[in-house]
Amino acid sequence: MTYRVVQWGTGAVGVEAIRGILDHPELELVGVKVYSEAKAGTDAGVLAGRNPVGVTAEVDVDTAAADAVLYAPRHPSVDDAVAILASGANLITTAFAFHPARMAPADRERLQRACAEGGSSLHGTGLNPGNLGVVIPLALAGMSRTVEHVTVQERADWSVYDSTEITFDQMKFGSPINEVDAHTDGLRFTSHLFREQVWLLGDALNLGVDEVTTELEVIPASADRDVCGRTLRAGTVAGQHWQWTGLRKGVPVIEVETLWTVGEPQPKHWPAPRHGWTVTIEGTPSMQAHLMTLASFRRDVPLEEHVRSASVATAMQAVNAVGAVCDAPAGFVTMADLPLSLYRGAR
Ligand SMILES: NC(=O)c1ccc[n+]([C@@H]2O[C@H](COP(=O)([O-])OP(=O)(O)OC[C@H]3O[C@@H](n4cnc5c(N)ncnc54)[C@H](OP(=O)(O)O)[C@@H]3O)[C@@H](O)[C@H]2O)c1
Repeated sequence: MTYRVVQWGTGAVGVEAIRGILDHPELELVGVKVYSEAKAGTDAGVLAGRNPVGVTAEVDVDTAAADAVLYAPRHPSVDDAVAILASGANLITTAFAFHPARMAPADRERLQRACAEGGSSLHGTGLNPGNLGVVIPLALAGMSRTVEHVTVQERADWSVYDSTEITFDQMKFGSPINEVDAHTDGLRFTSHLFREQVWLLGDALNLGVDEVTTELEVIPASADRDVCGRTLRAGTVAGQHWQWTGLRKGVPVIEVETLWTVGEPQPKHWPAPRHGWTVTIEGTPSMQAHLMTLASFRRDVPLEEHVRSASVATAMQAVNAVGAVCDAPAGFVTMADLPLSLYRGAR
């Protein structure tokens, strides 16, 4: 069986997805959606740094003939998602919908109706939220007799992430420190995605989570810094410590924590897990796993390549889920519903 796939968005994740689709033995790239006129008309292979493949990137792309759309825009749009799902294409996204059942009711109902109309499924996945933030904790918990508490920590420096629109405009690094809190536009949206992750872990593990709280501490830059060609000024936001906590009757049972800096040393009062992702389950037995993505553990490669490996992993978790999402019953399909997304060899 070959699944026909449209790649929606050709940023850091989208370009890696194109490479992944082209290499995947069960997938065929049938369309590419771009936002910038400058990229429109370019061959998808060329956008991915390869030879032409005969698929042209377009601003207006028809999804009706596709089995799946791999949706990786900078800002997801419920309107676009509804149109794609209603056209009959399954939607796999790294950008939102990690636990659609816990979305705002108006959006959830529209998406549900679109799935019913198109006989299609909606699946959100990636790295965190995604494989490392959800699939790994769920897999570890499969060895548990009791789970008392789950912690997922991400420690990362964003200074070489080349999507500076996301770093500065969406995530508000480089913004005046007194203008940024958990409710600031852009951050509120991102925060909601991590809140969905807490609900998903709580619901999937049946931990009785009845409330999710959000805390954010921001720290200022101690000096001006160049971040992929943009300047992050001294005194503006250079670090964010987020904590989303799932409570059962007031007692924390799940904590998802991100320790994000942009070239700034972490303050001493922050927790200091190793860079990457640390998953800790307190229970019977208690378990801990530390995970990281690199371009190689053997070869000497530039830092940018190591950083890019996180985009490869994000994209491939979605690419490798295409077949299972297409085969799933219509509706919302979470990472807790799908079988393991397996690597299937490369063409
Ligand atoms: N779950 C995870 O672990 C995870 C990890 C990383 C990223 N993500 C998410 O995945 C998505 C893609 O990330 P990325 O690193 O590839 O971002 P990116 O490099 O900033 O690229 C984003 C894409 O957005 C497109 N774009 C431009 N203007 C837009 C607009 N007004 N509205 C919507 N999209 C617009 C760009 O169009 P062109 O194609 O024309 O350039 C590009 O394709 C983001 O939503 C990001 O938050 C998730």
